[in-house]
Amino acid sequence: MPDAISIDVPPNDLEAFWMPMTANRRFKKTPMFFSAAEGMYYATPDGRRVLDAIAGLWCVNAGHCHPRIVEAIRAQAGKLDYASSFGVGHPLAFHFANRVVEIAPPGFRHLFLAGSGSEAVDSALKFALAYHRARGEGHRQRLIGRQRAYHGVGFGGLSVSGIGWQRAQFGALLPATSHLPHTHDLARNAFSRGQPAHGVEFADALEGLLFAVDPSTVAAVIVEPVAGAGGVLPPPQGYLQRLREICDRHGILLIFDEVVTGFGRLGAPFAAQALGVGPDLITCAKGMTSGTVPMGGVLISDRVHDGLSQGPEAVPELAHGYTYSGHPLACAAGLAALDVYRDEGLFERAARLAPIWEDALHGLRTLGPVRDIRNLGLLGAIEIDGGDGAPGERARACAEVCLERGVFIRALGDTLILSPPLVIDEGQIGQIVDAIGSGLRRLAA
Ligand SMILES: Cc1ncc(COP(=O)(O)O)c(C=O)c1O
Repeated sequence: MPDAISIDVPPNDLEAFWMPMTANRRFKKTPMFFSAAEGMYYATPDGRRVLDAIAGLWCVNAGHCHPRIVEAIRAQAGKLDYASSFGVGHPLAFHFANRVVEIAPPGFRHLFLAGSGSEAVDSALKFALAYHRARGEGHRQRLIGRQRAYHGVGFGGLSVSGIGWQRAQFGALLPATSHLPHTHDLARNAFSRGQPAHGVEFADALEGLLFAVDPSTVAAVIVEPVAGAGGVLPPPQGYLQRLREICDRHGILLIFDEVVTGFGRLGAPFAAQALGVGPDLITCAKGMTSGTVPMGGVLISDRVHDGLSQGPEAVPELAHGYTYSGHPLACAAGLAALDVYRDEGLFERAARLAPIWEDALHGLRTLGPVRDIRNLGLLGAIEIDGGDGAPGERARACAEVCLERGVFIRALGDTLILSPPLVIDEGQIGQIVDAIGSGLRRLAA
């Protein structure tokens, strides 16, 4: 008899699943599993409860296994498992898009659906190219990203990403890409609360880049409003506004990659609203279904939509789409997540908790070798002085202490990343900083 397959029982042989973004050989020597979850907590197969301080992977904004989302997925799976959106339709995708554009910034009345954040980013980059071509400016082909950016792992997104070790294995990637400087300025901005005061001039570097490549060759600039996987870097005050002005001056589209910041993380539906800057395209994913079913999307401004809708009616506006664009299960999960966000006031809750979160994180400053603490909305980062050891070793040690103390956080390089579900309460914020404090004290000892 073969062993029964159960999520509560890890198999003896872990070889076949080649894990993504993971040191497979190391993981498989000392594996760590979660097998259940509820609200703010994961459970391990041996019955430990672990507080999730990063919402899975910046995505479970409504908390784990929210009963309304679970029920919506369950019901949908038994009603319509799959229908394509290529030239036919099912109503749920339209209902869902209507609901998302209701909470989108003004001037965004259309939503394209994809299966992930990476697909959303690649789609948005293609839309920018197609938009210019439709206007007779097909020579605008350059895409500008930023150092320390993470835009997923598709060829397009990776080409505008700015984390070198993630690109190094994959060759030249897309031609005609450039990168702005990142905005991390420890000398002037360390321990800033919220948006740092210094650094609007990092946006002026765009003018320098445009001078070098000729602005008429540039299709789009893409930035995360708050760089996430690059270390949680809130934008300096005035920076995004300055980028917007420069893009406008040169007819360049501005794309906000809101895969992390979308759906409430900064206390408003999108960072564009929280920070008061209007891009031309907004990518999203993650919180869209509260992480429950894979989904990504691109919110399309009227300007781009109308520009792309000038051709013959019988021809697709975009030669682009995915088998899973508008998947019924994802739409059901997304609609339920939107209901939960609205009915439980979770975006408002994030806004209300943000100052408490800020105070709690900044209280860690003197407890160990801390180089910087950053926060915005319910995002946070503790940057640790790496010391003389291997890069990232101390941050990883600190994350391990947190796990021993029942708190799951992520170490990225020398930085501890925090992005909790929006249902977090003040006691749980305290639990997170207590655990990090223990880790920091251990480093200092
Ligand atoms: C800003 C940003 N863009 C894109 C992505 C890629 O999303 P996915 O992993 O769903 O492809 C991520 C993932 O973390 C992200 O943080």
